[in-house]
Amino acid sequence: MSEADTKLYTPTPEQAQGAYVAGMEAYQALVAEAEADYEGYWGRLAKELISWKQPFTQVLDSSNAPFFKWFADGKLNASYNCLDRNVEGGKGDKTAIIFEADGGEVTKVTYSELLDRTCRLANALKAQGVQKGDRVVIYIAMSIDGVVAMQACARIGATHSVVFGGFSAQSLRDRIEDTGAKLIITADHQVRGGKQLPLKGIVDEALALGGCDSVAKVLVVKRSGAGIAMTEGRDVWMDDALAGQDNVCEPEWVEAEHPLFLLYTSGSTGKPKGVQHSTGGYLLHAALTTKWTFDLKDSDVFWCTADIGWVTGHTYITYGPLALGGTEIVFEGVPTYPDAGRFWKMIQDHKVSIFYTAPTAIRSLIKAAESNEAVHPKSYDLSSLRILGSVGEPINPAAWEWYHQHVGGGRCPIVDTFWQTETGGHMITPLPGATPLVPGSCTLPFPGIQAAVVDETGKEVPWGQGGILVVKKPWPSMIRTIWGDPERFKKSYYPEDFKGQLYLAGDGAIRDEKTGYFTITGRIDDVLNVSGHRMGTMEIESALVSCTELVAEAAVVGRPDETTGEAICAFVVLKRPRPTGDEAKAIAKQLRDHIAKEIGPIAKPKDIRFGDNLPKTRSGKIMRRLLRSVAKNEAVTQDTSTLENPAILDQLGQAY
Ligand code: WTA
Repeated sequence: MSEADTKLYTPTPEQAQGAYVAGMEAYQALVAEAEADYEGYWGRLAKELISWKQPFTQVLDSSNAPFFKWFADGKLNASYNCLDRNVEGGKGDKTAIIFEADGGEVTKVTYSELLDRTCRLANALKAQGVQKGDRVVIYIAMSIDGVVAMQACARIGATHSVVFGGFSAQSLRDRIEDTGAKLIITADHQVRGGKQLPLKGIVDEALALGGCDSVAKVLVVKRSGAGIAMTEGRDVWMDDALAGQDNVCEPEWVEAEHPLFLLYTSGSTGKPKGVQHSTGGYLLHAALTTKWTFDLKDSDVFWCTADIGWVTGHTYITYGPLALGGTEIVFEGVPTYPDAGRFWKMIQDHKVSIFYTAPTAIRSLIKAAESNEAVHPKSYDLSSLRILGSVGEPINPAAWEWYHQHVGGGRCPIVDTFWQTETGGHMITPLPGATPLVPGSCTLPFPGIQAAVVDETGKEVPWGQGGILVVKKPWPSMIRTIWGDPERFKKSYYPEDFKGQLYLAGDGAIRDEKTGYFTITGRIDDVLNVSGHRMGTMEIESALVSCTELVAEAAVVGRPDETTGEAICAFVVLKRPRPTGDEAKAIAKQLRDHIAKEIGPIAKPKDIRFGDNLPKTRSGKIMRRLLRSVAKNEAVTQDTSTLENPAILDQLGQAY
């Protein structure tokens, strides 16, 4: 990528002028400030953006690296920072959340109301026996209740762990067991795309699978009102739990390092890992990135379309925008219901000014708009928009251009934000009033973040040469550990190959030869990114081989997909002769259903191919890089001399 063959979009003087970070010089000044005095820089921002009950005296404690501590002797409360201080600051009557339900009903809550609801639930949680340090699992759809549940946990110092409503009973069970949660907050149902789907029923199933003895109570929000089973002594309707609870609840002032939440995410090996985040450092970066990357002002209407079950929903729905006293949209439904114009209609109706979504959504809406003018953005008034954002996966230049032209009317900067569950907030991203944009590049590190591209030995590679993405210094919102497995934390993120000195993101990257701009080239480990959802190939393989009556062996790889970014491709050896035709189709369906049950529908493979065997080395190792070529229907050009059974490649290639 060079300036000659890519378009550069430079912020207009008007865009730069009013922005928090106004122009490249302002950006460079912040970068220089952080370089000159790293701790001074973060300490200054932590004082400016966060209200501390007890001020910190030390910014960074590296004495037990890589278990870094930030602002460790400071005390604060995340919910106080998101709610009380806005009410105290005169924003009590300001709309905090505009909630739009799947069917289109709109509910608004002000900061005062949100504080009231949070306090009542906080008191209810205490009445149910939840105390500081306890874990609470939240399994609920997009709703004000979901945000309130997270805020209420934060208020009393309970650590929340939100599980995405698309995960199966088995996945939910695993997470409940790993957290040792005392209480679960859920709803009777969720409503998506006009369909009512169970939530409480899945919680029941998960608990029935066993291993969740820590759970004493289940609080159930009434969403559909349709009948569900309630277990006496364990299950409590939310309305009953809230009845008579006071709307005042003194926040629990916690140490900055107190775990605000655990969020499970996929890695290369084993079960999903519980990424542990802190209160102080996390909240600082949530607020700071919302302020600078989205340039969030008092008059803005901010809409992040992510689910609160993912990290994007944590940082850019529950914490960042509220910490800044902003107004935001929370949307229950899906982008294609009642039609693929839903996003555009909502932007028009609510006068959304900042819109943050995933490339997969954009790509699928492009397809819909191209075949039906009525759902094309041009059929809506999107003039309220001023900034667009992208997250979760690389955005291809064609989708970028369409987003820019048709959604942003050619005038809105697109912030392509690179980050991860583990990083807590944006790491590499343009700032809308400063950074000249190049489609397909997440441009430059957020001020204070020291990203680099290195080789296998940890040495920085020259610009223009691809390598491994790392972060050279700890930063406030970084993952603190993997819940219950500090050794895995060290191994995964601060590997010995880099002498434990560099944070390993797990992505490949390349910097532009002239500008130094970063482009993410994709995961370098066995993690897939399907529609912006992270999944480990090993998890899917385990789910397949757990179908013991059918499956002897399985290998899962990713292949590029026009809409979902990557698609899951599974190669399966059955315990019976290789099926073909209709029989193969029927077994493939059975396996997909099995995976949906084990993990969730998002993990269903797009392709399932059956073989008599898998390509293996003489020592019996599956050669996945060959399978990646086969999955793409590419001729295998790699060296196959170590392959035990070369003929298998032809069979798997034809099996499609
Ligand atoms: C990928 C989501 C390219 C990347 C916030 C990362 C991206 C993984 C981008 C984290 C982007 C996220 N450009 N790739 N702008 N944003 N990724 O933990 O592979 O669900 O490692 O966090 O998504 O996914 P996670």
